[in-house]
Amino acid sequence: MNQKNDSAVSLSVLLRDFPKVELHRHLEGTFPVKKLYELSLKNGIDAPKEFDDFIEFIQFPRDSKPDFLTFLEKFKNNWYRSYEDVYWITYHSVKDFINDGIFYIELRFSPEHFSLENDFDRGKVTRLIVEAGNKAAEETGIVIKYLLTFNRGKQSEDEMIPLYNKLKKLDLADVVGIDLAGDETNFPPALFKNFFDLVEADGLYKSSIHAGEVSPSRQIWESIDILHAARIGHGISTIKDAKLQEYLKERHVCLEQCITSNYQTGSWPDEKNHPMGELYRKGVPVTINSDDPTIQGIDLTGDYVKAVEYLGFSIDDLVELNLEAIDYSFNTEEYKKSLKSRYLEKVRHFKEKHKLS
Ligand code: HPA
Ligand code: ZN
Repeated sequence: MNQKNDSAVSLSVLLRDFPKVELHRHLEGTFPVKKLYELSLKNGIDAPKEFDDFIEFIQFPRDSKPDFLTFLEKFKNNWYRSYEDVYWITYHSVKDFINDGIFYIELRFSPEHFSLENDFDRGKVTRLIVEAGNKAAEETGIVIKYLLTFNRGKQSEDEMIPLYNKLKKLDLADVVGIDLAGDETNFPPALFKNFFDLVEADGLYKSSIHAGEVSPSRQIWESIDILHAARIGHGISTIKDAKLQEYLKERHVCLEQCITSNYQTGSWPDEKNHPMGELYRKGVPVTINSDDPTIQGIDLTGDYVKAVEYLGFSIDDLVELNLEAIDYSFNTEEYKKSLKSRYLEKVRHFKEKHKLS
């Protein structure tokens, strides 16, 4: 192995161990490949029976040109045949997070996605996903909270509202936010105004809206001004809008950035010049996230390697970014304070172990 490869390997080993706060990861996009394969065989799903072909089937094709809708098509909702399947795949997904250095995660999932094929009870599915995730998190010593995803291309606002009203009655303390995902090109923010007015009026949850991923920065403005977004998923088009950069700083709205995902969806053409570095240096609130590791064929650690190698982030920058991510998490100020001191303790262990001063 040459020297360059050696240092690339050791950087990835180091960053795997680095304690991470992640605010944007979809459960539907983070199933362990082998477990999903097992589930697919068990349930006789119409998917390749050879493991290598199966991987190709579920991942964004390596030889495909970046494309948003091709990426979204990778989310299949027919894997599950029983409530036990949903519990099992969730448990194993969360069990793996510790191997990606996760300290704290806000995991998002769409109750509709997991229920649609079998018309499962959305409330029961939501409750059991939280139970399975919490069990795995407890066993591995990570902290987990949840966002409920609503898909803009698959549910109208009139369908979202009764579902939201049903789910909020579950009164699950670990559910802290609402996410709007899916096809932003054809389903702009204004279509969901009544739903997010209701979420805002209830005051039970904060919202993270996918916006400006493959749409102009206007959709980011609208997500904040019309949908009351506290955070923005991706928000790539911010780089072209200096006024918006100031607005995000002023309003303390952070961008949940995802380097690999942004390349594959076609939202940014060149990972080596991803705008996160420039935005960070300008003081615009950003965080590093994976989005959908299974589909992308890379985990959060892989995105951290890119942030260091391509965008020049140092370990101290990463610590600062992660502390800020705790600030942007959907928790009470008191809980954030306790998370920060536990996070800094993890960083101290990390630095000691790797002899970093
Ligand atoms: N964009 C929109 N919806 C999504 C994404 C994304 O990158 N990933 C999963 N759902
Ligand atoms: Zn996303």
